[in-house]
Amino acid sequence: MRDMTSPSAPLAIVTGATAGLGLETAKGLATKGYRVIVAARNAEKAKLACHAIRAHQPGADVHFELLDLDSLESVRQFAARLQERETSLQRLINNAGIMALPRLELTQDGFERQFGVNYLGHFLLTSLLLPLLVAAASSKPESSPRVVQLSSLAHRSGKIDFGDLDSGKQYDPWRAYRQSKLAMLLFAQALQKQSDQHGWGLLSVAAHPGLSRTALFDAGVKSRALIGSAFKLVMPLISQSAAEGAKPTLHAALADDARPGDYFGPGGFSETKGEPKRAHRSKAAKDPSVEDRLWEVSCELTGAVWSSQTPQLS
Ligand SMILES: NC(=O)c1ccc[n+]([C@@H]2O[C@H](COP(=O)([O-])OP(=O)(O)OC[C@H]3O[C@@H](n4cnc5c(N)ncnc54)[C@H](OP(=O)(O)O)[C@@H]3O)[C@@H](O)[C@H]2O)c1
Repeated sequence: MRDMTSPSAPLAIVTGATAGLGLETAKGLATKGYRVIVAARNAEKAKLACHAIRAHQPGADVHFELLDLDSLESVRQFAARLQERETSLQRLINNAGIMALPRLELTQDGFERQFGVNYLGHFLLTSLLLPLLVAAASSKPESSPRVVQLSSLAHRSGKIDFGDLDSGKQYDPWRAYRQSKLAMLLFAQALQKQSDQHGWGLLSVAAHPGLSRTALFDAGVKSRALIGSAFKLVMPLISQSAAEGAKPTLHAALADDARPGDYFGPGGFSETKGEPKRAHRSKAAKDPSVEDRLWEVSCELTGAVWSSQTPQLS
């Protein structure tokens, strides 16, 4: 099939686009004429995802680029390749995630794996792609480039435990997940604040998919066998498909009514499913002191330097 995307088509990166919500988000962006990069750790699955996106949108300009959020070096290499090849980036969708790993596991850089993959990897990635986002803002000021962070209903019972960010003192699978998803929502807000202060011209937003039927729940179900079985029974009643679940992300990425720092989720009962609307944030998500401190700590942990100039990559 001939490439139907215009040579000047805007570029979108979707992390974790091999399956679930990321794949549906990538399809949605391709349908809207974006060139899409499937940023993923598994080449075989990514190849299949690219086929699925092209089957959904014939002629879609989509390709795979290796990104393993478990490794900050992989994040740096990904960003370096993008900076060499691309001149601007219009949409960055920080979607990849893992949930409720039964036992404490560490990333290659020694962070608790959910905090590292879901949050810190995306934090560094966004900082390294900032020059491409700012270039998009400069070339078309009337249409802000957008960064979308995937949060979760789980953020509402989350807490940023600065004394034990890595769960080294005490590991609980769900506590670690909730912390990582609260961190993503705080990140969306902090990024908007930084963009406004420094004139980067970004629209920074967050989204959550309610309860969507994806492979995400596999690890969590294993970590609590009994609750897991009950959950499997009620899940079909209270959840929605991955395609439905991707709607808040696509709304955050594309809708005209998205405002700086917005947060979208499903508008139905308890935000578990339904059409996108503005979502409820926890008290902890509205605490500017936690937001500021998390930003600082995340810069220290990842070595992120937020500059609109192309960074010197070692
Ligand atoms: N499903 C829900 O109800 C729900 C609810 C709230 C929030 N969310 C959030 O939605 C996002 C997407 O989840 P999903 O439900 O679509 O789950 P999913 O179907 O399990 O997809 C997760 C994606 O993340 C990728 N990923 C995992 N670890 C990675 C790593 N180290 N480097 C790069 N990619 C990695 C996976 O890649 P592989 O294919 O290689 O495994 C996969 O593409 C997550 O951030 C999750 O927290 C989901």
